[in-house]
This record gives sequence, structure tokens and C-alpha cells, in this order.
Amino acid sequence: MNLIEKDKNYVWHPFTQALNAPDPIAITSAKGAWLFDADGKKYLDANSSWWTINHGHAHPYLAAQIHEQFLKMDHVIFAGATHPKAVETAERIVNCLPDGYQKVFFSDNGSTSVEVGIKMIYQYWHNKGIDKKRFLAIEGAYHGDTFGAMSVGQRGYFNKPFEHLFFDVDFIPFPTAENAEAVLSKMAEFFATSEFAGFIFEPLVQGAAGMRIYDAEWLNSAVALAKKHNVLTIADEVMTGFYRTGTLFAINQISETPDIVCMSKGVTGGVMPVGLTVTTQQIFEAFLSEDTSKALLHGHSFTGNPLSCAAICASLDLFEQEDTLKSIDRIANAHQVFLKAHGNNPVFKNARALGTILSLEVEVGEESSYFSDLRLKAYNFFLENNLLMRPLGNVIFINPPYCTTNEELQHAYDKVMEFLTEKR
Ligand SMILES: Cc1ncc(COP(=O)(O)O)c(C=O)c1O
Repeated sequence: MNLIEKDKNYVWHPFTQALNAPDPIAITSAKGAWLFDADGKKYLDANSSWWTINHGHAHPYLAAQIHEQFLKMDHVIFAGATHPKAVETAERIVNCLPDGYQKVFFSDNGSTSVEVGIKMIYQYWHNKGIDKKRFLAIEGAYHGDTFGAMSVGQRGYFNKPFEHLFFDVDFIPFPTAENAEAVLSKMAEFFATSEFAGFIFEPLVQGAAGMRIYDAEWLNSAVALAKKHNVLTIADEVMTGFYRTGTLFAINQISETPDIVCMSKGVTGGVMPVGLTVTTQQIFEAFLSEDTSKALLHGHSFTGNPLSCAAICASLDLFEQEDTLKSIDRIANAHQVFLKAHGNNPVFKNARALGTILSLEVEVGEESSYFSDLRLKAYNFFLENNLLMRPLGNVIFINPPYCTTNEELQHAYDKVMEFLTEKR
């Protein structure tokens, strides 16, 4: 059996209907912004492998730091034990966030970082003996695939079989220039009930909904409103963190500080599975009690994994280098140049960029949808043209590793325009 036959025999892939899915591409090596298949064909990893890879694949510094940690100490239980890399990680993460954050809880993916944030909020109110059970989220949200994360995400096609198990969540419309004030009024109405425990959002960009960008000023007002009504807030920075939106975190673009920040994906440079849930001393203190059941009785086998922590610290080292920040600016500028040249082309319903994310909503003559026919056609065209890019329905987006060169970016831009103007 060759690799693909064996894959079909043994592997269950995520988000894939195995009955009719095309064969997966078999990637056997990766370097920088490129992935290589078994036949030596190469693909530009223009979506950073599910928005994770920041510094490029097989980065020698990340590899060396992980290797060094492996030889020192590979893994240790994280209840009743600690280790230098976890402490370094927590201290550095706290210090790179805006003032006010103090405690880092470790888990192992984006969904669990959100799950932990939700549990922190519910238990915070429980420990204080205050009855607040309602949660607010934004329509179109995606916060992950565990039950809590699904509950606060967009309901429907992706999670119908589980819907009866979700807790009740109220949703406000996605904020736009037209409805901004009305959405804030709706929030104020909800919060006036004093029943809301928390409000969760993807700051500035909803990722899975189609890289939908919204206004920082609106977000600032929404967080301020939540604070005014004593509603705890979660900024889910799983996708937006680590310079995707141009600043280290998206919340650096607002002045309010959410109570909880979730991180994953790019936190390790995208090479190790980690979730971090960061919060304030004030929230932490609500869990201190002679009564052990008031502690956050939650954890995972790989909580605080030293190899993952080594990757986080190494990635933060790379972000301290001027060259990394220059590359981020360079990519952000290239996106702007692309928009100047093509943003008004009628092939686009909406073409925008924020930081290193270029988001191109393609005009398809019907309502934008994840199930647009454009998705597969574009995906296949891009594959044929050495690009691995998975559009979100009729939204084509580019969020490349920061080592991607201008020439490589230009190839992606050219192929997007060729597809939209000649090949669709
Ligand atoms: C904003 C956001 N939150 C949470 C998640 C879930 O992360 P994971 O896939 O690591 O569970 C994602 C994944 O795309 C995400 O974009």
C-alpha cells in the first residue's frame, strides 16, 4: 500500500467527508514558507498551516531550543511540580500583554484555552455566590470544537448533532459601520438584566467566519460596556495573537483590557500544541479558599509541557528580533499595495487587510457562504499553482508565515487575480 492508501485505511481526518473527499496531498517535508510533497512538488503555505506557523517551517532556532529542552527534561506532571520553562513562559507572556494580567493557565490547544476561560468565568461567579449564568457572543463566532467552545460559537451546520447539549448563549449581530450603535444598545439591554456572566469575542477579526474584520473602536466600547455592567470578557486571541493583526495582540489596538485572553496557534511559532488562558490577579483570587472545591479543578496531561514552553520562549526570542518585526511590516505593506491595485476590482465584494491578514470576499452573485462553490475550485486551482490556500467559502485569504518573501507573496497575489479574472 502506498501512503495515500494507508492513510485511507487508517486515518480519520478533521472537517472531512471521507466518502467523497479528494485524496489528501502527502506532505513529506517543509522549510520556510514552503511545503514539499512526496513527488517533490512544492506549495507555498499561504495560510500558515491553519494559521499557526509564524516564523516559517523547520526554523533552526525553534528546533534547537526544543531539542535542548528535550535533553534536559521532556515532560513532567504540572500539578504539584513546576519547571523553569513554564515559569519563564508565564512571566514573559504576562509581560508582553498590556498591564493588568498576572496569571497564566496552560492547556494544549485553542479550544481548551477557550474552555478554560469559560470555566474561569462561570466558577468565578459561582465562588462569589452570585447567580449569573448567561453568556454573550457574536454571530459567526468560532471558538473551537469542544463543548463549551461550540456553545459560544455559531450554531448550525458544523455542530447540529450536539446542539441540544450546548448551554444557552445570546448572540449579537456582527458589528458593521451600519449597525455599530444598534448592536451596542442591544448589548446594554442584555447587560442591564444583571444576568450575564461573560462576553466572548474574537478581537478585530472573526477568523473562521471568513476573516471578517471589524472596528477597534466598536470593540473598545463593547468591552467598556461589559465592564460597566460587571460582565467578564474573554478576548479569544487564538488566531489574532502574535502579530497577525499587525500588533502583538489584537487587544493592543484597544485601550480597555479584557479580563481573560486566550492564546494558541502561533504562540509556539505554530510548531507545538499549546493553549494559554491568561487572566488577572483579581479573577485568580476568587479561586483562593480553604475549600479545595473552589480551586479551578481542571487540567490536562500535557498542561505546561516543557517542550511546548521551550517553543513559546524561543518564538518570543524571535519576536524580539528587529528583522521579524520588519518582515511583519513588509507583509502588511505588501497587502496594502495589493489592495490599492486591486481592492476596487468588481470581482471583490469586500477586500480588506489587517496586519498580515489579507481578506478577499469574492463577489459570487449570492450571499457569502462557507459552502460557496468557489471554495473547492479556488483550492484546486491554487494547488495546481503551487499554493496551499483553503478559502473560507467565497473568502480567499492570505496570512502567510512571516518569512514569506515579497516574490512569494506576489506569486500568491498573481494567482488569486488570475483565478478570479480568468479561471473561475
Ligand atoms: C479564534 C479561534 N478560537 C479557537 C480556535 C480553536 O483552536 P484549536 O483548533 O486549536 O482547537 C480557533 C481555531 O481556528 C480559532 O480561530
